[in-house]
Amino acid sequence: MLTSMVEAVGNTPLVRLDNISRSAPGVEIYLKLEYQNPGGSVKDRPALRIIQDAIADGRLTKDKALIDATSGNTGVAYSWVGAALGQRITLVMPRNVTKARKDITRVFGAELIFSDPMEGSDGAIVLARKLVEAEPDKYFYADQYSNPSNPLAHYHGTAPEILDALGDRLTHFVTGLGTSGTCMGSTRRLQKEGIYCVAIEPAEALHGLEGMKHMASSIVPNIYNEKMPNEILPVGTEDGWDMSERLAAEEGLHVGHSSGANVFGALKIAERVSKEHGKGCVVTIACDRGDRYFAPIKWEANYVW
Ligand SMILES: Cc1ncc(COP(=O)(O)O)c(C=O)c1O
Repeated sequence: MLTSMVEAVGNTPLVRLDNISRSAPGVEIYLKLEYQNPGGSVKDRPALRIIQDAIADGRLTKDKALIDATSGNTGVAYSWVGAALGQRITLVMPRNVTKARKDITRVFGAELIFSDPMEGSDGAIVLARKLVEAEPDKYFYADQYSNPSNPLAHYHGTAPEILDALGDRLTHFVTGLGTSGTCMGSTRRLQKEGIYCVAIEPAEALHGLEGMKHMASSIVPNIYNEKMPNEILPVGTEDGWDMSERLAAEEGLHVGHSSGANVFGALKIAERVSKEHGKGCVVTIACDRGDRYFAPIKWEANYVW
C-alpha cells in the first residue's frame, strides 16, 4: 500500500529483448521500463529528487514556485509531483509545443509561460533564467541541466536497481543524452562495478529524437562531463524511429523514439560484444511510451452525455 503517489516512483521492471537480440548471439539485452513510473517517463525520478532535496534544505518553500524550462517529460513529472506534495509549479516552454503537452501539465495545475517558438528549447532556458533574475524571491529555479539532484536520482535509484536485478551478469550499460542526468548518475555508480557505459547522442544537430540533445550544437548542461562515458555512440533519427517500430512489432513494446535510439545503440554494442567475446549482458532505458507521441483524445472536464 502507498501513502502517497511519490512512493510509486522507481523499482521499474527490466524486460529481456530476446527477439531483437537474435543478431548478437550469446549476448542478452535488457530494457528498463521507465515509462512505468506514475508520470509515464524516466523524468519522474529526477523531478522528485530535485523537489525533495530543495524542500529538505529550504531552497523550495510553500511561498515559492518551482520554475524550469521544459516542454517534455520533466514538465509532466514536476507537475504531478508538485500536485502530490502541495508545491506550485511554473513551466517555461516554446509556444509551439503540442496542445497535448500543455493540457497534460495543466491537468495538475501547473502555470505555463511561453517562449519564442523560433528559439526552441534553448530559448525556453534563456527566458526561465530572465524570469528568475527579475523575481528571485518568487521562484526556486530547479534548473534540471545544472542541478546535481538530477544525476543523484539515477546514482541512488536507477543504477542500484539494475545492479540488484542482474548482479555480476551485467557487462554494459547504454543510455541517451538529454540533460545527461540518466547517463551521468547511472554511469558514475555502474563504473564502480567495472561496467562499460555508453552514451547515445543524436547523430545530427537537427534530429527527431525528442528528449535527446546534440551536444555540439546545444547549450551544454553543467551536469554533463563528456569524459565520463567509456564511449559516445551517435545514432541517426531514422535508426531510432525504425527501432521503435521493430520493438512494437517484434517485442510487443511501444516506446518513444529516444528509447528506440537507446535500443538501436544497445544492439550495436551487443553485436560487437558477441563478435569479440561471445557473451555479455547489456542494459538500456525505455524513457517513455510511444503513445506520448500520438495526439491523445481530448480531456473533457464537463462531459455532456
Ligand atoms: C523522452 C526522453 N528521452 C530521453 C531523455 C534524456 O534523459 P536525460 O535528461 O536524463 O539525459 C529525456 C529527458 O528529458 C526524455 O524526456
